[in-house]
Amino acid sequence: MELRKWTYEDIYAIAALEKVCFRDPWTYRMLADTFFQENTVALAAVEGNELIGYGFLVVAGEDADVANVAVAPQHRRRGVARALLRGLEEAAAARGVKRLFLEVRVSNAPAMLLYLRSGFTGRYVRPRYYGDGEDALVMVKTIGA
Ligand SMILES: CC(C)(COP(=O)(O)OP(=O)(O)OC[C@H]1O[C@@H](n2cnc3c(N)ncnc32)[C@H](O)[C@@H]1OP(=O)(O)O)[C@@H](O)C(=O)NCCC(=O)NCCS
Repeated sequence: MELRKWTYEDIYAIAALEKVCFRDPWTYRMLADTFFQENTVALAAVEGNELIGYGFLVVAGEDADVANVAVAPQHRRRGVARALLRGLEEAAAARGVKRLFLEVRVSNAPAMLLYLRSGFTGRYVRPRYYGDGEDALVMVKTIGA
């Protein structure tokens, strides 16, 4: 498994994985728009020619918001998401980011465990944050020196 930056051609595969991994997937258009933003840091996990996972964050000054991290079901529990998070964190730190934020569905135990094991802590709940009425837990990690 290797981590590299997204290419524009990756966006088809990423949009397809979004549909497999999320109830409220980002569309091709949303992903493409984000890809072209200068403040986006986006990493793909690839094995041979196959895109097996991806993650991206959006930088705003000393803070960054981890937008999505996802791994294809058949490649889970092999440390791919943990590696993606580490890569995103390193890239964000190199841009001067000091704090990473993210929102996670309160029902998403695998993701919450991943983030806790990666050094994030839960801060507060955003009630009915998602379109279907589910709450989000906001998690934070301080990074860099
Ligand atoms: C959450 C997700 C990204 C994890 O990807 P992954 O590559 O399987 O995660 P990793 O193998 O790097 O796991 C790292 C740690 O997270 C925890 N974890 C991950 N998946 C877990 C699960 N299903 N159950 C319990 N703990 C889990 C474990 O502590 C794991 O370490 P371990 O395997 O040594 O015990 C993946 O399940 C996924 O794509 N889910 C759908 C999309 C999603 O919900 N993304 C998060 C949105 S906020």
